[in-house]
Amino acid sequence: MDYTPKSGRAEWHLTYKCNLSCGNCNRLSQFKPTTDDMTIDDAKSFIKQCHDIGWMPNEISLIGGEPTLHKDFDEFVELALGFVNGDKGDVVSVWSNMYGKIPNEAFKRWNEVKDDSCHGMELFWGSEPKRKHLKWHGATVKDKSVNFLKGMTISPKDMGLDICPPDREGNDFGHDFKGCYQHSAYGCGISVDSVGYSICAMGGAIDGMLELGVRTKDLSKLFDKEFALKQTCDLCDNCGFQYERRTNQINWELQDNIKVVNHTHMSPTWYNALIKRKETK
Ligand SMILES: C[S@@+](CC[C@H](N)C(=O)[O-])C[C@H]1O[C@@H](n2cnc3c(N)ncnc32)[C@H](O)[C@@H]1O
Ligand code: SF4
Ligand code: SF4
Repeated sequence: MDYTPKSGRAEWHLTYKCNLSCGNCNRLSQFKPTTDDMTIDDAKSFIKQCHDIGWMPNEISLIGGEPTLHKDFDEFVELALGFVNGDKGDVVSVWSNMYGKIPNEAFKRWNEVKDDSCHGMELFWGSEPKRKHLKWHGATVKDKSVNFLKGMTISPKDMGLDICPPDREGNDFGHDFKGCYQHSAYGCGISVDSVGYSICAMGGAIDGMLELGVRTKDLSKLFDKEFALKQTCDLCDNCGFQYERRTNQINWELQDNIKVVNHTHMSPTWYNALIKRKETK
């Protein structure tokens, strides 16, 4: 199985800061950020490397955290719009929670100019504007039917599961690709942030909290099959995002080890990492 990126998408995490604090947020923005904001130079370096290796994403997502909170938000939009190829139908998408003044003013600004200045490119603003974000709150782990199963912060290893490599016999995620839709080999974009690049859209958030050291500043490495498989395993071994599809394999007795912090379910690997950060920073 080839785990190199195929989705043609890249997700720029301008900031992991957020004006909301949703339980089980898949970028961990309900906690203090573990990764600094991106700089314009980070984005320029990404674009240069794309040109160097001949990889032209067909979608750049400006995401977070809440991307509109970044002081240079407009400049990132301009850079991204200047990079994607509108003639081919490539897009820049902004993922905003649309809560409060700053996100709404940013939306208004770009909604007004987008037809005039985007030269055939489309600027998408989130998938469900004005959506409520508290939907991840309040799940309980005491009932197997309910949803801690979207929580990345339940490490498979802590639940008695050994899932890597994902494409080995017996691992079935319910679709042709023997992995997870958040993976850039299948659906979502590669993660781009100030520390580097990862193969899964949530990779930067996972790497930041667990201090795995898997992010690379060398974009070409994601397209190396061995590197892509190794980074996939390092991340997926620690991420519970695909539990939904594998409830029959979970050792439910181990759910008693799960703690809830900021409405977020954490298995020991994650809880210990959070406590360590609180103790040391
Ligand atoms: C991480 S947010 C970042 C951008 C912005 N703050 C927002 O919420 O739209 C991007 C998307 O991920 C979704 N999301 C967050 N946590 C999730 C989870 N645990 N499972 C599935 N989707 C999640 C959000 O609803 C949102 O559509
Ligand atoms: S608004 Fe988005 S980034 Fe912020 S905590 Fe909620 S899901 Fe996470
Ligand atoms: S299971 Fe793996 S590919 Fe899916 S979100 Fe988690 S780290 Fe990413």
